[in-house]
Amino acid sequence: MSDGSMEQVRVELGDRSYTVFIAPDLFGGGLASSVLEKHLRGRRVLLVADSHTAPLYAERVLSAAKAAGAAFCGSYVIPAGEQNKTFATTEAICCEAVRQGLDRDSVFLALGGGVTTDLTGFAASIYMRGVSFISIPSSLLAMIDAGIGGKTGADLPGGKNLIGTFWQPKAVLMDVSFLRTLPEQERRCGAAELLKHAILFDPDFFARLEETASGFLKFEDPGSVARQIAWSCRLKASVVSGDERESGRRALLNFGHTFGHAAERLMNFTLSHGEAVAWGMAAASDLALDRNLIRVEENVRIRNLIECFGLPLRLPGLSPDAVLESMRSDKKSRAGKIRLILPLGIGKADIFQDIPEERILQAIEAHCD
Ligand code: GLY
Repeated sequence: MSDGSMEQVRVELGDRSYTVFIAPDLFGGGLASSVLEKHLRGRRVLLVADSHTAPLYAERVLSAAKAAGAAFCGSYVIPAGEQNKTFATTEAICCEAVRQGLDRDSVFLALGGGVTTDLTGFAASIYMRGVSFISIPSSLLAMIDAGIGGKTGADLPGGKNLIGTFWQPKAVLMDVSFLRTLPEQERRCGAAELLKHAILFDPDFFARLEETASGFLKFEDPGSVARQIAWSCRLKASVVSGDERESGRRALLNFGHTFGHAAERLMNFTLSHGEAVAWGMAAASDLALDRNLIRVEENVRIRNLIECFGLPLRLPGLSPDAVLESMRSDKKSRAGKIRLILPLGIGKADIFQDIPEERILQAIEAHCD
């Protein structure tokens, strides 16, 4: 649904349903406060923002929260970066909430990239056995993926997102103007998850991305960027609505992630998540070709679009054996068997856990320099 320049996407989850609001300048006028009013009026609010995002946008979000009638608006800045996505940071958020007098009726606002929305959602889910939170993703990656769907969590030394909860936000607010300050590399990374949704679910969306990839990366037309984000959110929302806790179809969203997480881990997170996922999607598409699940021309289109978004098809300095070993210990593996999402053409995919490891290794080798 579209309301003037504001796109709205509904995530249907019974009494936990919520709306994602997407607009080119959501926090620029009164739009954000009118959306927030229902959730914040008379309540105590803690804004959690990371150290990169807070100086840029925290003031704007706090003003909107005040205009929405919050009884108290405090803020807390957490250090930016995946290395801070820890249980310790989650605990620090909860301790700060106590210090600022947040009660069971309070609301956490999460402003930042996926690390911040995941951590704040996690803190909200355990603080006083669960309080409300509203997600305000500020990176393209978080708008496309982490900011919606209710997966919250933190990393452990043994791997990414090994602790966490399913805890849905009360609303998600996406201000596309926040993306203007995003470095080119981060735009590309968000585009990887956009591309993922197109390959998995929507051949027409894939074709549109083929036409608009370069304009999209430049954010030349904020209205069009908002519509593309909304479309991608709709695809994700429909999956989440049907399988909130990932007992079936939601696992498809892990396309590219088993390969990608292994590469991220082995490269000590010097590789960004989006680059890793794109690389993983390229390897998975080759594997799908090897298993006769997709046609050569479909594999070529996938590879071309990955390249068009400036994302890597090959990575230097990785040992293919180490990647395979790391994939075995991924939390998505079952009984030591690597579970992979492979495309069945463009717009359709399935889950496989019986692919011979030597074929997986071959696909990895083809993508390592
Ligand atoms: N990021 C994948 C999911 O939300 O299920």
